[in-house]
Amino acid sequence: MRIAPTAYRRMAHRPARIAPRDSTSGGALSMPFAVPSRPAPPRPLPLRPVPGPRGLPWIGNLPAFGKDPLAFLVRLRDDFGDAVTWSLGPMRSLFLSHPQHITEMLTTREQAFDVLDILWAFRQVTGQSVLLSQGAEWRRKRGLVQPTVRPRQVRAYAPAMVESAQVTAERWREGRQIDVHEEMALITQRIVLRTLFGNDLGDQTRALGRAMSVAEQVVSDELRGIGLFLPGWVRTPGRRRLLAAVATIDAEVHRLIRARQAGQVRAAGQLGRGGLDGLSRLDGQVAGAASAGRPGTGPCPGSDSDPCPGADSGDRDDLLGRLLAARDADGRPLSAKEVRDEAVTLWAAGHETTSTALTWAWYLLGGSPKARAQMDDELERVLGGRPPTFDDYDRLPWTQQIVKETLRLYPPAWTIAAAAREGATLGGSRIPAGTMVWCSQWSTHRDPRWFPDPAAFRPERWDADAPDVVPEHAWFPFGGGQRTCLGARFAQVEAVLLLATLAQRFHLDIAPGTVTPKASLLLQPATRLRATLRRAD
Ligand code: HEM
Repeated sequence: MRIAPTAYRRMAHRPARIAPRDSTSGGALSMPFAVPSRPAPPRPLPLRPVPGPRGLPWIGNLPAFGKDPLAFLVRLRDDFGDAVTWSLGPMRSLFLSHPQHITEMLTTREQAFDVLDILWAFRQVTGQSVLLSQGAEWRRKRGLVQPTVRPRQVRAYAPAMVESAQVTAERWREGRQIDVHEEMALITQRIVLRTLFGNDLGDQTRALGRAMSVAEQVVSDELRGIGLFLPGWVRTPGRRRLLAAVATIDAEVHRLIRARQAGQVRAAGQLGRGGLDGLSRLDGQVAGAASAGRPGTGPCPGSDSDPCPGADSGDRDDLLGRLLAARDADGRPLSAKEVRDEAVTLWAAGHETTSTALTWAWYLLGGSPKARAQMDDELERVLGGRPPTFDDYDRLPWTQQIVKETLRLYPPAWTIAAAAREGATLGGSRIPAGTMVWCSQWSTHRDPRWFPDPAAFRPERWDADAPDVVPEHAWFPFGGGQRTCLGARFAQVEAVLLLATLAQRFHLDIAPGTVTPKASLLLQPATRLRATLRRAD
């Protein structure tokens, strides 16, 4: 690697005091999630990479990385320093640990780095959506999709979030043992399908959910093994399962698109449970728009690139309606294939991430009765037993801090990587084109320089008047820069409303023992997290 060689010195001191900033918000919600930080320094922090572990011929560090990626990345940081070169299979890699380098990488990504599109299996699920696009195509898609999750929309989705949690709480019984992740995934799955497709799909929800779980499992398996380097034409048993699952997803999503365009969705009539004020309002919008919807005018679903002729029929307040109604600067709608790719991406990116975060939140709360008691006090004071609404989000700072601290300790997305383009620089040094540049939420969030006693669950770290300071992008569960998570607000509001709804009704007594995380596509508990339900009232 030709990067200016200079003596490397690991920064050991604590950061200076810095002013508030939040890379995820940028808008209407006031965010106690804001990270105290200071404006970017005028000059970049010089990059002084040192060579990391040598690894084996051809495969480099793939075995060590594949066995335990989290431990491997922390070892890179602790044993070698803030910028380490290493190899993963045939790929040259550079691992960054310092928040200033991470900030520089995240904020120059669109200009200087390529999206890492190495995971064939992942692409089968998301297609060419905003997640894997770049340049002009990414800008167009981001511009079209972003409005579907802006604060006004998140407000409209909030009743469905609360109602979905209530459905689960109604089913829960004192003394019953639950698989926490399974329960959280059911809720977030229901939410994402309702907010995406504006409806409770009943049996289809289960079929779609199952197909998505299979797809996610195969993608996770491929991520850590040789599947990462297998060409797309190789058909392993896992890949065959994946393709079958994707076919189910495609058929169902295209059917929904077709139905929507034909104005055949009778949302109100199909609602499974509903009935609560908020949800009725949301569903009313769907139903109203459905009955006003214009019939589709052609067989666009299934076509790869033709704009859908009926695509202007969806002005309803769900994600699908908004995707169908979206127009780019030239007035062009998304094609049916593009709508499918964005909808499936929002779905894939939007449910398992949040359910994983919630699972970890219950785990941490289980081990911290004090934090739980403080949350109970807050819920009692603010809600007094009524269900939370979108407007309560800002009134629940401690619950927000619990979510924030959970995302620090167990960030569902545990790494971000991108490939350097010709001319890319970091810290003033040129990065050879093709180098895979990595940073990891897992290792940076647990760096004692930015978070004293890093393994401790301490939501009070995020108190508005906390003495500790955190540099920009020392906490970055949603990434950062222009490509920051599109659903960050959605996820934060969803996590707080779900915790608040369920905690008002139940305690989740977690079985004793430590649950270790497993890094696959997301950072999930390596073993099932079981809890016994105990009524909160
Ligand atoms: C706790 C929950 C979530 C976490 C931890 C999370 C994390 C992330 C991260 C780390 C990225 C990559 C950012 C980057 O490369 O800098 C990302 C991108 C993205 N996320 Fe999320 N996410 C969450 C929830 C959601 C939700 C609820 C949605 C949709 C409703 C969503 C939609 C997306 C999309 C579309 C992108 C691609 C953005 C782009 O490339 O321009 N995410 N997310």
